[in-house]
Amino acid sequence: MRRTVIIIALIAFSVVSRGQRQLTVEADKSITPVASTMWGVFFEDINFGADGGLYAELVKNRSFEFPLPMMGWRENRVNYQKGRMLVINRAASSSNPRFARVTINQPEGNYSISNEGYRGIGIQKGAQYNFSIMARQESGNGMKLRIQLLNNAGKEIGNAYLDGFSKDWATYKISISSTDSAQRGKLNLIFEGAGVMDIDMVSLFPKDTWKQRPGGLRKDLVQKIADLKPGFIRFPGGCIVEGRDLTNRYQWKTTVGRVDERKLIMNRWNVEFPRKAAPDYYQSFGLGFFEYFQLAEDLGAEPLPILNCGMACQFNSGEVAAMDELQPYIEDALDLIEFANGPVTSRWGKLRSDMGHPAPFNMKLLGVGNEQWEPQYIERYRVFEKAILDVYPNIKIVSGAGPYAEGEYFNYAWKELKNSNAAFIDEHYYKPPSWFLNNAARYDNYERKGPKIFAGEYAAHVKGNPTDGEGMNCWESALAEAAFMTGLERNADIVQMCSYAPLLAHTDAWQWRPDLIWFDNLNSVATPNYYVQQLFSVNKGTDVVGISEAGKPIAGKDSLYASAVTDRNKKELIIKLVNTASTSQTAAIDLKGFQPDKKAGTVQLLYSSNPAAFNKLSALENLKPEVKSIMVNTKKLTYELPASSVTVITIPYKVLPVPHKKK
Ligand code: AHR
Repeated sequence: MRRTVIIIALIAFSVVSRGQRQLTVEADKSITPVASTMWGVFFEDINFGADGGLYAELVKNRSFEFPLPMMGWRENRVNYQKGRMLVINRAASSSNPRFARVTINQPEGNYSISNEGYRGIGIQKGAQYNFSIMARQESGNGMKLRIQLLNNAGKEIGNAYLDGFSKDWATYKISISSTDSAQRGKLNLIFEGAGVMDIDMVSLFPKDTWKQRPGGLRKDLVQKIADLKPGFIRFPGGCIVEGRDLTNRYQWKTTVGRVDERKLIMNRWNVEFPRKAAPDYYQSFGLGFFEYFQLAEDLGAEPLPILNCGMACQFNSGEVAAMDELQPYIEDALDLIEFANGPVTSRWGKLRSDMGHPAPFNMKLLGVGNEQWEPQYIERYRVFEKAILDVYPNIKIVSGAGPYAEGEYFNYAWKELKNSNAAFIDEHYYKPPSWFLNNAARYDNYERKGPKIFAGEYAAHVKGNPTDGEGMNCWESALAEAAFMTGLERNADIVQMCSYAPLLAHTDAWQWRPDLIWFDNLNSVATPNYYVQQLFSVNKGTDVVGISEAGKPIAGKDSLYASAVTDRNKKELIIKLVNTASTSQTAAIDLKGFQPDKKAGTVQLLYSSNPAAFNKLSALENLKPEVKSIMVNTKKLTYELPASSVTVITIPYKVLPVPHKKK
């Protein structure tokens, strides 16, 4: 965040000017605690979010398992007599049946194969790259492999040699330094010496991954997620959970254990939108459930896996498992809990331990189904709920209200799930900005005794089709989300988890927008929507306190939205004010039950006069919060809220507020 250290001397609550908004904060009255899970993230492998994104593998189709086994690869040969390549399928080996056989007849080293990566391979100047390959020399002796990093123009910008290949399969590794950068580079493998070499799992990772884990995650992207301080991570989606049909569903068991044994499947976003078809989109599961739990632990976030409930995507096939054949799906759920939490003596707990994490991950939440609807969901959900709670009564199960924020499916699901005493209901809203502005009071009069709310997928979708992918993440959308989020915060007694969706998008390979973070092969950019999420998340506080105007919640009257929390740990009062008007407004705030400390607080301000403004990967991030200092030493302050702005005022206090109000 930009930090401008401007000490604003106390602004006394002076003469009330016309148009001034008279607000009251009751800082000493805790309305409800804020759940530690309040603001989280939704991760899905959409827009090349995992393969080609967060998962830092740079080689596409590293094990030749794409249905077109040479996709991503290219042979560079003079003629087939000198060298050639054949993909061999060992049908008996179920998860990784294919490998490539390279036959070199003449030893000059002019036969090579190259990999194009995910819309190119990003190479940073001066960085180290870890190359590895499974190989065996089938015949001949002393073959060598020259490994080249090539830039966009095909010029070598890094190389290394591997030799000493044995006749049995083994993994060979070498590190390569790059002398230059490339946004769309390539990996080239030159085979030297005559003979036959078999290869598989050809891999290239930056050495500098998140926490320096070999075969790990892209550091800049994880850092951006970490900077949101998410209370939970929802994973693996999204519709990807469901699959286009049941065979295409996400099955967590195929995503754990040895990486080379994880069975690749087509990513459902490969074919979902013909206009944005991505024929090279597959799931390698290099980022699988173990890596997910590890990431959640790294970030101090609760894991929130969402599992298939025996139903494929109802927007696609709508295929369902027969009711008397649900058992394998239920076992998947029970076994996942064992994988996450079970003792190392249990089958799945042992696998977790063998993968390097003997301690349990302490998973507490589990989602059953994504965007399902009608009775076929409810009847399956109930079987899951009973089976899970019979064995694990402390797991909180997240159920879903379907894809829409209101209407027939929504109302039916709510009625049935409430009758089931569901712990959480997942509500989704992909709506225009006006919906967000008009629905800031959505939860003010919601059912208090029923299930808690998980606002599991939301984003304001503006009209238009901007050329830049990031263009849909414009200020108009972020401002509307901020206004709505004051309503989520005000109702934190029932709204206990919220996540913007989707999280990640590759500028050259997206299918869905808007998205929270955009990236290319080298860099990433935070959207204005990201900064809105961050302002709420890092300032979530511990207790909601009242903020009102004329005794009423501030939920859009004359374009003003507000919520307030205290943070008992930091001893701060935090006021969030969203002015959606195209002119500034002055808020005169009466701070009741509050004794300011004589320490500087902060004002974080995010605003733009241009609703279409957005942050572009190839340019400077223009839209990010400015931070100023503020001194408040009376119980009253006035503050001018710029047009179209989100303002977060943090004021240190002296006297602790009264304990949480009993619910
Ligand atoms: O976030 C993108 C998609 O939107 C999710 O996969 C799905 O749950 C929703 O329809």
